[in-house]
Amino acid sequence: MSVLTIKDVTKLFPGGTKAVDSFSLEVADGELVCLLGPSGSGKSTLLRMVGGFEQPTSGLITIDGQDITHMPPEKRPTGMVFQSHALWTHMDVFKNLAFGLKLRRLPADEIKRRVEAVLELVGLGGYGSRRVTQLSGGQQQRVALARSLVLEPKILLLDEPFASLDQHLRERLREEVRDIQQRVGITTLFVTHGQDEALSMADRIVVMRDGRTEQIDRPDVVYRDPQTPFVAGFIGTMNLIEGTVSNGTFTRASFSHPLAVADGPATLAIRPEALDLVAAEPGAAKVHRVTDYGTHGLLDLNLPDGTRVKAMVDHPGQFKNGQGVNLAPRAVAAYRDNKQIFRSEA
Ligand SMILES: Nc1ncnc2c1ncn2[C@@H]1O[C@H](COP(=O)(O)OP(=O)(O)OP(=O)(O)O)[C@@H](O)[C@H]1O
Ligand SMILES: [Mg+2]
Repeated sequence: MSVLTIKDVTKLFPGGTKAVDSFSLEVADGELVCLLGPSGSGKSTLLRMVGGFEQPTSGLITIDGQDITHMPPEKRPTGMVFQSHALWTHMDVFKNLAFGLKLRRLPADEIKRRVEAVLELVGLGGYGSRRVTQLSGGQQQRVALARSLVLEPKILLLDEPFASLDQHLRERLREEVRDIQQRVGITTLFVTHGQDEALSMADRIVVMRDGRTEQIDRPDVVYRDPQTPFVAGFIGTMNLIEGTVSNGTFTRASFSHPLAVADGPATLAIRPEALDLVAAEPGAAKVHRVTDYGTHGLLDLNLPDGTRVKAMVDHPGQFKNGQGVNLAPRAVAAYRDNKQIFRSEA
């Protein structure tokens, strides 16, 4: 059992930057939670406070009920993997992994057994005698992960561990890490600003903005039911159309859609895949660009006032630049004052 609890944690840096603002989260035993947010939203600062590399200004951090808020990093039952892995290049892989165990004065045969087991786990069995510099970027990142895991931490902390790798390798490694994390059953906090990474790896996603939580939910819920326009715009592609509601109808330029909310301003959110198009002249919108991705097409549309709208279509060949279309959303959400006020399912 390893449960991480973060309660009302705030970090104020000298100079006045509030990097983390009254943040609370509980990560359940064996759970992988992703901190997802734009650059500067406080993800690394939060992770570093859990790892002990940064001190909270206020708040409480516990692991299995034990207060670790001000415990030095080397005393904590946490293992951290950074974006730049900082392996010791003058040592071979085995020595990199054995280092922390030697500090703990484990017997040599126990060290050997644990290092070999963890190398097996990360798919680097037999690589113990390789120099770190003789490994690829992906292999080095796996050694960095192994170096954390070999100490058998209760909580694994990963800060953008794949950021320096190319897209293809990144996708493969995140599957591997997810696999390893589930096999070991280790409670994990994972920082990323890549939404694909968060959506494909996490049990739950925390969407962060300005040091605070915008939404905490399962990936499918964050995608399907974003609670704020920020989350709606941040996860996946979303049309966010500012307009006005009057007598049950939302209007922006020549586009209108029934919306059963009180009169006033509103932001309408429509996924490109939930927007049907009907050819019509002159039409509410004009086709600006057609992109054919083979499996589907993406259309960029313009409302007469210049508002851009994206729609996904099965047969892009049916559309031409300059053509008029009417927009028929199958599902929408609406926001006002930063809160969701309406949602319909497709
Ligand atoms: N040591 C520091 N001193 C002062 N301000 C800092 C320090 N470290 C971070 N900050 C500030 O705190 C805020 C949050 O930074 P943080 O590194 O946690 O963001 P992040 O979400 O990890 O961003 P990124 O995705 O770019 O890594 C930023 O405004 C940053 O400039
Ligand atoms: Mg960061």
